[in-house]
Amino acid sequence: MPHSPRRRRRRVLRPLPLVAVGALVAAAAVTVPQLTPEADAATTLRGYADARGVKIGAAVADTPLTSESAYTTVLDREFNSVTAENAMKWDALEPSRGSYNWGAADRLVAHASAHQQGVRGHTLAWYSQLPSWLKNGNFSASELNTILKKHIDTTVGRYKGKIYAWDVINETFNEDGSMRGSLWQNKLGTGYIANALRWAHAADPSAKLYINDYNIEADNAKSDGLYNLAKQLLSQGVPLHGIGFQSHFVVGGVPSSMKANLKRFSDLGLEVSVTELDIRIPLPASSAELAQQSTDYKTATENCLGVPRCAGITVWGITDKYSWVPGTFNGYGAALPYNESYAAKPSYTGLSNGLNPTA
Ligand code: XIL
Repeated sequence: MPHSPRRRRRRVLRPLPLVAVGALVAAAAVTVPQLTPEADAATTLRGYADARGVKIGAAVADTPLTSESAYTTVLDREFNSVTAENAMKWDALEPSRGSYNWGAADRLVAHASAHQQGVRGHTLAWYSQLPSWLKNGNFSASELNTILKKHIDTTVGRYKGKIYAWDVINETFNEDGSMRGSLWQNKLGTGYIANALRWAHAADPSAKLYINDYNIEADNAKSDGLYNLAKQLLSQGVPLHGIGFQSHFVVGGVPSSMKANLKRFSDLGLEVSVTELDIRIPLPASSAELAQQSTDYKTATENCLGVPRCAGITVWGITDKYSWVPGTFNGYGAALPYNESYAAKPSYTGLSNGLNPTA
C-alpha cells in the first residue's frame, strides 16, 4: 500500500531537527505519548506487529464501533486484527431458527477490510450464548449434528476468504482436563470436535482453525487434556491448525510456565495465539498494580512471541469503558490498555514494549 496514510505520516517526522527528536524521546520516557494522527505509525502497536509479521488484535463491540469516533480512532491506529466480541456468536447470528441477523458481523468485517485489518472469527461450537430455540429444542443427536453442520457451513461460508482464523471450538474442557459438559459434548460426544473442524475446513480451506480455551496458559491438567486431544486430532489428519490461549489473567498472575506450555503446542506444528488477553485488577487500582499490570502485559506478549508459530496477540477490548470484566468478576476492572477516557495506561507501554523487539 504505497499510498496509505500510514506511510505518508511517517515522512512528517523526518525533517525534525535532532533537538526536537530528543525532546520527544525525553517526553516519551515519562509518559506514554498520546499519539496524534501526525505521530510515527511505526511506533504504534500495529506498527510493531506489522514489522514482525504478527497480529495485534482487539475484541470489538458493535455499539462503539458504530457510534464513537474515539473508539475507532484507537482501533484503526493501533490494531491490525479484530475479533467480534459478541456479533459472531450463535445467539447473535440466528436468534430464531432459520432467521439470520448478519448486521453487526458484516459491519465488523467491512470495517476491517476498509482499515487493512484481519478478522478472527469467534466462535462456532460453544456451550454458551446459544439461542434459546437451540438450547431448549430437545433435539436428537442426528438433528444436532445436522444443525451444527449447517451453522458452520453457513457462517464460515459467508465469510470465506475474509477470516484468517476461526475459533471453531470454544471452552470444551473442565479444569481437570476432562471434556466439559455441553449441548454438543453431551449429545454428540467428543467426535463433534473433529467433525466441526472438518466442516469448517471444507467451507473455507484458507482459514486457520483453532481450539480456544481459558486457564490453559499454564502447564496444568486442563492444558494436558487439550494437548492430548490436539495430538490425537493431528494424528487422525483432522484440520486443526492452532490453539487459542484466552489469557484472562489477574494482575501478577501470568503463569511462569506459560512460554514453555505454548511451546509444547507449537512443537506439534500448531500455531499459537493469545486470543482474549486482559489483566484484571481489584478496584480501585493502585499505581503499583497498574505498574505490575504493565509488566504482565509485556510478559504475556513476549511469552507468545518468543515461541515459534505465535500468530499474534488479541486483547479482549480496547478501553476499560467497555470491558466485560467489571460485569463478570465482581470488584475487578481496569483490565485493558486504555482507560475510560481513551488515555493509554502503563499497560499500553507494556504491550508495546512486548511487541517491540528493541524495547
Ligand atoms: C464475553 C463478552 O466479552 C461479553 O460481552 C459477553 O456478555 C459474554 O462473553 N470467553 C470467550 C468470550 O470466549 O466469548 C467471552 O466474551 C469471554 C470469555
